[in-house]
Amino acid sequence: MTLLDVQSIKADFPIFNKKMRNDARLVYLDSGATSHKPLQVLNAEREFYTLHNAAVHRGSHLLAEEASAAYEGAREKVAHFLGAAADDVVFTKSATESLNLLAYSFSNTNRGQFALAAGDEILVSEMEHHANLIPWQQLAKRTGAKLRWFGTTTEGRLDLSNIDELITERTKIVAITHQSNVLGTVNPVTDIARKAHACGAIVVLDACQSAPHFEIDVNSLGVDFLAFSGHKALAPTGVGVLWGRAELLAEMEPFLFGGSMIESVTMEAATWAPAPRKFEAGVPNMAQAVGLGAAVEYLTSIGMEKIHAHEKALTEHALQGLQNISGLTLIGPQSTIDRGGVLSFSLEEIHPHDVGQVLDQYGIAVRTGHHCAWPLMRKFGVSGTTRASFYIYNDLADVDALIDGIAATKKYFKVL
Ligand code: ALA
Repeated sequence: MTLLDVQSIKADFPIFNKKMRNDARLVYLDSGATSHKPLQVLNAEREFYTLHNAAVHRGSHLLAEEASAAYEGAREKVAHFLGAAADDVVFTKSATESLNLLAYSFSNTNRGQFALAAGDEILVSEMEHHANLIPWQQLAKRTGAKLRWFGTTTEGRLDLSNIDELITERTKIVAITHQSNVLGTVNPVTDIARKAHACGAIVVLDACQSAPHFEIDVNSLGVDFLAFSGHKALAPTGVGVLWGRAELLAEMEPFLFGGSMIESVTMEAATWAPAPRKFEAGVPNMAQAVGLGAAVEYLTSIGMEKIHAHEKALTEHALQGLQNISGLTLIGPQSTIDRGGVLSFSLEEIHPHDVGQVLDQYGIAVRTGHHCAWPLMRKFGVSGTTRASFYIYNDLADVDALIDGIAATKKYFKVL
C-alpha cells in the first residue's frame, strides 16, 4: 500500500483550515465535482494579476510580453503533462466547451473527416456524463447522423459484446469517457481507439475524471482528441483543455470568431491563424490558464503514479468498508481493477439527498443526485446515488469517517 503524506499536502490547501458544521473538520469527498486549490495555484493566479496583468498576444509593452510568456508557459506545462506538443493544446473555458468546440467543428464544415451527413454514425456510451453526450446528440440532430452507444454491464463495465456491430465503416466519431464519473470504471480506450481507427473514425476522449488522477500520455492512448477541465485538477475554474492531433486541428473549423484567432481580415472575409490560436478568440482566461500551469506542475511534483497508487489504496479500503454495510448497494466495479477512486452507492430506504445531509452534519462533503449522468441512473434503476470521490488530500481516516457517517445515517433513519 502506497500512501501520500496527506498532512503535508493538506498544509498547501487553506480550505482545510475551515471548520464545518458542528465544528467538524472537512472531509472532502467531492473532488469528482471539483477539486480544492493549493496555495501554489492561488499564488500563481495572484502573481499574474499583481505583477504581469495585460491582454496576451496584443500590445508591445512589458506587461503584455510577460503576460504572453506566462500564458504560453502554462501551455507548455500542460503539454508536458499530457506528453503532447504545445501547439496541439487549446485552452478553452471548460471541458464542456472543449467538447462543444469539437461538436461544432463537425457540423460547421464540408471538409474531409469532419463532414457528417445522414447515414454517418456517432458512437458514445451509456456511461457518459452529459458534457460528453448532449453535444453529440445535438450534432446528430444538426447533421442527420445517427447516435449509437455502448451499453453498460451490470458490473458497471462498458458492454463491448457488440463492438463489431457498433464500430463500422459508418462510424465517424467515437466519443468515450476515460473514467466514469459515477462508476469509477476505467475504460479500455486504446483497444477501442485501435478498432475505431481501423474503420476510419475519429476518437475523442473525455479525460475529466482521469487526467487529474493518473498519468496521461496522448500518444500511447492512441486517441485523436482529449478534453479535460482545470478545476477538477487543482486549477481554478474557467479553464479547460482540448488537445488534438496537429493534422486534425489544422483541418478543423473554429468555433468562436473574433480577435486573436485571425491571420488577416478585410471587410468581406477573414483567414485563420494556425492552431491553437485559431480556437482561442478574444482575450482568453489568462490567469486561470496560468493557474492550471501551476496545478499540473504541483501534480507532477508529487508524481502521477504515486497519486494513482494512493487513490487505489483509499478505494480498496473504501470498497471493503462499504461492502460490509447491510442495505448498501455499490454500483460499479467491486474491485480496484481498472477503476478509479469514485464510489457511488444507494442505501436501502434512505434517499441520497438525506444521506448527503446527514453526512454534512459530520463535515463530510459528498455529491448526491444523478451526477450529470442521467441515462446511467436509469440503467441502474435509481433516481440518484450518493457519490464519494477521492483525491490527493484524502486519507484512510476520511474513508473511515465516511463509513462511520453511513452507520450514523442508518441509525438516524432507524434503518438496521
Ligand atoms: N461531472 C461532474 C461530476 O461528476 C460535474 O460531478
